[in-house]
Amino acid sequence: MSTQAVRKPQASTIPNDLEAFWMPFTANRAFKARPRMVSRAKDMHYYAPDGRAIIDGAAGLWCTNAGHSREPIVKAIQAQAAEMDFAPPFQYANPKSFELASRIAALAPGDLDHVFFCNSGSEAVDTAMKIALAYWNVSGQAQRARFIGRERGYHGVGFGGMSIGGLGNNRKAFGTMLAGVDHLPHTYNREHQAFSRGEPDWGEHLADNLEHLVALHGDNTIAAVFVEPMAGSTAVLPPPKGYLQRLRAICDRYKILLVFDEVITGFGRLGHAFAAERYGVIPDMITFAKGVTSGAVPMGGVLVRHDIHQAFMNGPEHAIEFFHGYTYSAHPLAVAAGLAALDLYRDEGLFERARTLEPLWYDACMSLKSLPHVLDIRCVGLTVGIDLSSKPGAVGMRGFEAMERGFHDEGLMLRAVGDSLAMSPPLIVSEAQIGEIFEKTARVIKAVA
Ligand SMILES: Cc1ncc(COP(=O)(O)O)c(C=O)c1O
Repeated sequence: MSTQAVRKPQASTIPNDLEAFWMPFTANRAFKARPRMVSRAKDMHYYAPDGRAIIDGAAGLWCTNAGHSREPIVKAIQAQAAEMDFAPPFQYANPKSFELASRIAALAPGDLDHVFFCNSGSEAVDTAMKIALAYWNVSGQAQRARFIGRERGYHGVGFGGMSIGGLGNNRKAFGTMLAGVDHLPHTYNREHQAFSRGEPDWGEHLADNLEHLVALHGDNTIAAVFVEPMAGSTAVLPPPKGYLQRLRAICDRYKILLVFDEVITGFGRLGHAFAAERYGVIPDMITFAKGVTSGAVPMGGVLVRHDIHQAFMNGPEHAIEFFHGYTYSAHPLAVAAGLAALDLYRDEGLFERARTLEPLWYDACMSLKSLPHVLDIRCVGLTVGIDLSSKPGAVGMRGFEAMERGFHDEGLMLRAVGDSLAMSPPLIVSEAQIGEIFEKTARVIKAVA
């Protein structure tokens, strides 16, 4: 480390030279050479600082399910900021946080009836991991301390979520991870699944790999299995038909907790409040974030089954039952945004809307099938992953160029994951806008051929 004094840019002398902000998950130098700035948003669109409209094919980052800057959400946040800015969530509370917890629990399947709030998907995952460990502790089975994740899984960037996650680039620079974590194989096989509409027919048997891990580690050492019902961040891997049901059955056999990470799939993305409902599988915990406030204020949380919560409600009444929480758990602005978002989802029937649009969305996705360099298209709910072949010697270049061209030439926001493109528009998207998104995407794919 150099001992030379570092000259910091002064905000007063250098108003905006793009230097100081180290951008997350971004190619910083390329961005700062050719910025993709957005400074306003409304409904289905972002607007660049020069006023140019950009149609949002990505719900921001899988977040804004109700569309952008919706008036009821904006007003709720404004009113809450004026009424009460902050309430300490440890030992005190804001009544509205109980209302939001009840509303979320009412949307959840089965007896998932308690909610622990945090501020992001990463925190939700690490919270669920801690609940699992502490649950086995209070249940007299502290030896259940291992976790099983899955290859190509994304569970955020905390050390817990990173350890159970299965994306090499997110792990390899960061040391040895948590001990005691193993991984299921991912569920993708292009040979058997290419161009699947909805859940692919092939792959249910892959759940049986959990049996192998149980044999390897011992059936009573595993605390929990974490999977995304649909793996979004790896460019959309829908679960094979029957896979999640089979995973549930194996977890039941060995009394392993099953956690669905629904940070993306929660709040309507797959046509239901939670993907658990779509698949008729009740996990022991559900992690959520993003759509809970339609992205308007950071919030995450963990839905927990009744018996898990009950196991903690022991000991003297004045004693804290679970030593965990965040300063901003159930922050009043997030709670206000969450209540307003849930009202919008209900009043506008947005989860059902996603379900109704599904066949049209799938047709639009598959219209790209014969374009150059398209290797696969996978769609489920209002999501799609499109694999493009890599340019020789330049993995990730074609995807990156597609993102740049989408933004600059077509006025389209999409996500690039290596050479794959992922899309997931706000659930208010119209049929005409679906057409527009795919016309623009087709031109982008041709342009990067
Ligand atoms: C399934 C899943 N879990 C966790 C996370 C992490 O969420 P956050 O970025 O809010 O920490 C994400 C983010 O995309 C996600 O898709």
